[in-house]
Amino acid sequence: MVHRFTLTTPLYYVNDKPHIGSVYTTLAADAMARWRRLQGDRVCLITGCDEHGLKIQRSAAAAGVPTQDYVDRMAGHFAALWQRIGISHDRFVRTSAPRHQGLVHEFYERVRRNGHIRMGQQQGWYCVACEEFKDVDNEDGGTPRCAIHDRPLEWRDEENLFFCLSHFQEPVTRLVERESFIGPPSRRREVQRFVEAGLRDFSISRVDLPWGIPVPHQPGHTFYVWFDALLGYITALGSPDGPQDLTTALASGWPAQLHLIGKDILRFHAVYWPAMLLAADLPLPERVFGHGFLTREGRKMGKTLGNTLDPEALFAKVGVEPVRWYLLRDIQFGEDGDIQQKRFLDLVNNDLANTIGNLVNRTVSMSRRWFEGCVPPEGEEDAASHPLAPVATAATARVGRCFARQDLQGAAMATLGLAEAVNGHLSEQAPWSAIKDASRRDGVAAVLYGVLEATRLVGLCLQPLVPELSNRLLIQLGCEPLDSRHGLPPGAWERLVRWGGLPHGQPLPEASPLMARLELDGDL
Ligand code: MSP
Repeated sequence: MVHRFTLTTPLYYVNDKPHIGSVYTTLAADAMARWRRLQGDRVCLITGCDEHGLKIQRSAAAAGVPTQDYVDRMAGHFAALWQRIGISHDRFVRTSAPRHQGLVHEFYERVRRNGHIRMGQQQGWYCVACEEFKDVDNEDGGTPRCAIHDRPLEWRDEENLFFCLSHFQEPVTRLVERESFIGPPSRRREVQRFVEAGLRDFSISRVDLPWGIPVPHQPGHTFYVWFDALLGYITALGSPDGPQDLTTALASGWPAQLHLIGKDILRFHAVYWPAMLLAADLPLPERVFGHGFLTREGRKMGKTLGNTLDPEALFAKVGVEPVRWYLLRDIQFGEDGDIQQKRFLDLVNNDLANTIGNLVNRTVSMSRRWFEGCVPPEGEEDAASHPLAPVATAATARVGRCFARQDLQGAAMATLGLAEAVNGHLSEQAPWSAIKDASRRDGVAAVLYGVLEATRLVGLCLQPLVPELSNRLLIQLGCEPLDSRHGLPPGAWERLVRWGGLPHGQPLPEASPLMARLELDGDL
C-alpha cells in the first residue's frame, strides 16, 4: 500500500530575499522528503511564501514599489533559489494568490458558523517584525522593545475580530501532552507550559491595513497575517490553477504528517493552528518539529552586525552539497547550531573528500586493476558472511530509525560511521600486500567485494542528504543512480539495501575523484 506523506516548510515572509535560516529549514525538509520518497511514500513537500501583513507592506513602501510587484519579485527569489539548489518541493504556494483568498473565506465562514469568532477590543504592544502581540512589563511607562528584534514595539488599540482560542483549552492541552505531536521533547515542554498558563483569545483582523485578505462582511478589516498564512498549507494542496475549495484541497494530502519549522514559530503551529482546525472540524497535523537557530562564529546573524551569510553567494562559492552536508551533519536537528568556517572546511574535506571520496577511489582503482575492470567475485563463502555485512546492515537500519525521528545528524553519522568502518577493514586486510601472493587472490576478491558492497550502501544512505554526491558514488560502482525527486515503489528500498545486491562481474567505470577538496580564499 502506498502511504501519503505531506510535509511542509514554513511559508517564508517576502519582506526580503531568502536568508540562511530559510535555507536551513528547506534543506532539512528536502532531505526528509527524499527519504520518504525512497521508502515508497507518495510525498507532497510544500513550501512557499507568506506575503501579507504590515511588515511586508512597509518593506514594499520603503523600496518605493507597489506591494504586489514587490512580493512578486521577492517570491521569485525564493523560487529561483530552490530551483538553483535542487530542492525537490512538490508545491510552491503564495498567499497573495487569488485562489488562497477563496479558501481563507470558506474556512473563516466555517469557524464563524461554529461560534468561535467574536468582536473585541485589542489593546497591546505589537512587534511588526514578529507580526505578533507581546506580553510585556511596562511599568516605567516607556516604549518596550522586542526581545528578539531589539526594536521598539508599537501600541495598538482597535476593535478587532477575535478567534476564541479559549474554547479549545481542553483539546489542545490533551494534544500537546501527546509525545508524538511536538519534537524535540524539550520544545514540547515549553509549549505545554504555555498552554497550562491558560489560552487566551487572539485577534484575527486588522483595521487600516489594506495589504491583507479582506474579512467578509466586515468593511475595513483584513485578516491578521498568521490567520491567513497557516491556511496556505491547505491551499497548497488544491489544484494549482483552478478555483479553490476546502474539500478538494483536503482530499489531496491533508492532514500533513509533519510541519517543519523554526523554534520561534512553534506556538503558532502547535497551539493556534490545531485550535483553528478544530474550530472548523478539520483533521489535525500529526507532528510539528521545531528546529533551533543558527548563529555564525558564535554570534547572532543580522544586518546591523554585518555578518549575515547570503545564501546565493555562499552556494556560488562552495557549491550546494558541502553546505547540505555541513548543516545536516554538524547540527543536532532541533538544537541551535553555530556556523564556523574552519569546521565547515574540515568536515567537508575530511568526511566527503577523504573518508568517502578516497574510499571509493582506491577501492575502484584496486578492483579495476586486479579484476579486469569489474566487481570481483564474492569468494567461496556466502557473500553475507563477509565481516562488513552485519556492520552495513546495522548502519542502514540506524539511518531509517534516525529519519523516523527527524534526527538528520544521526542519519549522517550512521552513514559516515559505515564509511569509516569500511576504511578500517580495508587497512586491516591490506589487499595491496595480499595481492602479491597469487594463492591469496580469492581472498583479496572477497575483501574487495565486501568493501565495494558496503560502499554501495554508503552511497544509498547518502542519497537523501547529498543526492548528487550519492549518485556520483553509485555511478562509480557501475550502479544505477537513484531518483529521490520522484522516488521508488514501495518495498524497493528494502531490496536495494539488502547485502549482496552488487553483481560481481559488473564493469566499474574508471575512477575519478568523487569530490575535490575545498579551499577557501577569504570568508564563506
Ligand atoms: N511567515 C512565517 C511563517 C508562516 S508559516 C505558515 C515566518 N517566516 S520567516 O521567513 O520569518 O521565517 C521562516 C523560518 O526561518 C522560521 O522557521 C524561522 O525559525 C527560520 N529562521 C529565521 N532565522 C533563523 C536562523 N537564524 N536560524 C535558523 N532558522 C531561522 O516566520
